[in-house]
Amino acid sequence: MTAPIDALVVNDISQHIWPLGAKRNSDGALEISGADVRDLGKKYLTPLFVLDETDLLSRVRKYLKSFASQTHGNKLTKPTQIFYASKAFTATRFIELIVKEGMGIDVASEGELRVALAGGCKPENIVFHGNNKSLEELEFALDKGVGIFAVDSFFEIARLAQYSKKRNVKAKVLVRVTAGIEAHTHDFVATAHEDQKFGFSLAAGDADEAVRIVIKEENLHFLGLHSHIGSQIFDNKGFEIAATRLAELSLRIVKEHNVQIEMLNLGGGMGIAYVESDAPLAIEKMASELVDIVHKLFTSNGLAMPQLAFEPGRAIVGPAMITLYTVGTTKNIQLENGDKRTYVAVDGGMSDNIRTALYGAQYSVALASRLSNAQPMLSRIVGKHCESGDIIVKDCYLPSDLVPGDLLAVAATGAYNRSMSSQYNLVTRPGVISVNNNKITEILRKETYQDVFATDPGL
Ligand SMILES: Cc1ncc(COP(=O)(O)O)c(C=O)c1O
Repeated sequence: MTAPIDALVVNDISQHIWPLGAKRNSDGALEISGADVRDLGKKYLTPLFVLDETDLLSRVRKYLKSFASQTHGNKLTKPTQIFYASKAFTATRFIELIVKEGMGIDVASEGELRVALAGGCKPENIVFHGNNKSLEELEFALDKGVGIFAVDSFFEIARLAQYSKKRNVKAKVLVRVTAGIEAHTHDFVATAHEDQKFGFSLAAGDADEAVRIVIKEENLHFLGLHSHIGSQIFDNKGFEIAATRLAELSLRIVKEHNVQIEMLNLGGGMGIAYVESDAPLAIEKMASELVDIVHKLFTSNGLAMPQLAFEPGRAIVGPAMITLYTVGTTKNIQLENGDKRTYVAVDGGMSDNIRTALYGAQYSVALASRLSNAQPMLSRIVGKHCESGDIIVKDCYLPSDLVPGDLLAVAATGAYNRSMSSQYNLVTRPGVISVNNNKITEILRKETYQDVFATDPGL
């Protein structure tokens, strides 16, 4: 990290990273959609996830407007479907908000499916994912009338066909294809990513074979193809390569079986800004480019344009949520180059944000309970867990007058933070509240020790 940096920058709540409703109020404290974080911290206790509902809804609407409600100059005959990838974050009241706007839901387990249904998502608007769906999960989903099964293995196709037959239904199936590409941010690796657990390999001919089997099965309806190439993607290059490969496969399918590819689901992975230098493509631009890409690929091959579908998770909820922490202790260390760095320990850590330890993720942080003009100090935000890798923000600047009791806010923690949280060291997992113009809704209450000990018969 390069110095120098001034106090003004340290206090900045940049709209590029923070939710729409985040700003400093007249006291200098951070406010989320009209609610002062000092009040939220007192009432709901930290660590606390705070969702800016206005930000969330604006993102949901932008996605629906850019994709679902456009024909893109009549290139699309059916509205594009958006399935929110609920692995990013899910809770009943949260799903209610999204479903009301018109989004479908992507689930990857029976638990996520139960929440999607409880949140009011119609079963026909659900895509069920997973490389190892259990027999019970498949039966449960069929009984609930789940709309689309993204099949991931030959075993699953056989099981789904058998259970559908037993129920005398015809399950709609997308064949998940490993397109041989892995994309992260603006990097992508084509051809190199066959070696992973998801989907049917194109290179090995498994995808062609899976489609053949699905088409033959009386109780399965072949809907189309699915591919998910990665995460935190900033441009369309990776999607273009995947779409090209799926279009080639589609041509083979149409020729061999004389069926239509009704749906082409290109998955999720749209990136967001965690730090100032992150520059994801605007969603409007991403949408129109993607439609153009698929339209060109399909029509130039004489194929009918399929209905498009996408599964954004991070891009919907990531930027809309922040985590609020209370500073507990600090410690100064001298680096080898003579510089100083301050370890700032907060009341959460890798139990509510595993992404830094897992992927080296970067985050932006701000002193949230007040404004400070003190000299910025190089800091590392760490948690309270018994791991030296328990780091939330590796390098950042915070005011040097930071004291225990100050509140810190970490931006863009909506996706894969609470949903990947743990009770490591037997901590209680944080609550999630949503704020809309100072109206507060509890989305998930903070756990109690009773919750944590619920499965220990000795306690
Ligand atoms: C099949 C599938 N769809 C969608 C997503 C959502 O990805 P993101 O949250 O990066 O948009 C994932 C993430 O792992 C996925 O595996």
